[in-house]
Amino acid sequence: MNNKVRKAVIPCAGLGTRFLPATKAMAKEMLPIVDIPTLQYQIKEAVDAGIEEVILIISNNKEEIKKHFQRDIDYENYLYEKGKYEEAKLIKDISTMAKITYVVQEEQKGLGHAILCAKEAVGDEPFVVILGDDLIINENGKNVSSQMIDIYDKYHCSVIGCQNVEPSQVNKYGIMALKNKMENRIGYLLDMVEKPKLEDAPSTLACLGRYLLTSDIFAILENTKPGKGGEIQLTDAIKILAKDKDVIVYDFVGNRYDIGDKFGYVKAVIDFSLKRDDMKDKVLNHIKNVLSDNKD
Ligand code: G1P
Repeated sequence: MNNKVRKAVIPCAGLGTRFLPATKAMAKEMLPIVDIPTLQYQIKEAVDAGIEEVILIISNNKEEIKKHFQRDIDYENYLYEKGKYEEAKLIKDISTMAKITYVVQEEQKGLGHAILCAKEAVGDEPFVVILGDDLIINENGKNVSSQMIDIYDKYHCSVIGCQNVEPSQVNKYGIMALKNKMENRIGYLLDMVEKPKLEDAPSTLACLGRYLLTSDIFAILENTKPGKGGEIQLTDAIKILAKDKDVIVYDFVGNRYDIGDKFGYVKAVIDFSLKRDDMKDKVLNHIKNVLSDNKD
């Protein structure tokens, strides 16, 4: 077994119904934060964390994802001829940023099933899972995947990325109970419940779209029955994994945007624009105008 974390799995087969009608003909992973598709941010996170191969789980109708990440020499040449050198480099860089492998998930049977589809592509080695709806930024330090790989390198067990959420939000996430009190951002998983009602939630500690899993999760997923919502839940498989093995719950450092939610998406677009030299002043000015027009 290879012990180095070299691969990342990003499930991209979902329908994106929360963003209809935009996602009727367009993959939700291609929705841009200003001009960069959200999936490109997730792939960059993996690459920046030292990941060598990104496995995208796609459905049959997600051709535009492949088109975005593959090389288009004709388009590059066209841009060169027009003197648009920066733009030509921009689109070339996308196609060379990572080795990308595609696996088609024929039927949408849930997140656990999507991860199981990556079994052959991952093989017998630990891997990172990055969920597209969670955009996580840690401006002044290592990104969240990199932080989780550091934990794995030290403890050699699965790691679940988490943060506390408002009690009213527990029904949106996998919620965890720990065996012990968290120390230095680390605890050990005792139990995990998918999207519980507040009264059934064991805590407010929510899994926020980052996992580092050992390959023994695949054998468990093969036997995991449909759970919440009739779907094969990754949460249910992790809960079983934690019965036999240590599973670390890691309170990662970073600012998370729920870009699967419309307001979370708008917040990300605003915050990311405010960080860009080419946008900051204009956007700030606009916000000031909006505020003064809406004083009352
Ligand atoms: C999934 C997982 C859930 C996790 C969440 C993080 O839910 O099933 O356990 O907390 O992602 O974003 P989804 O949001 O895909 O319904």
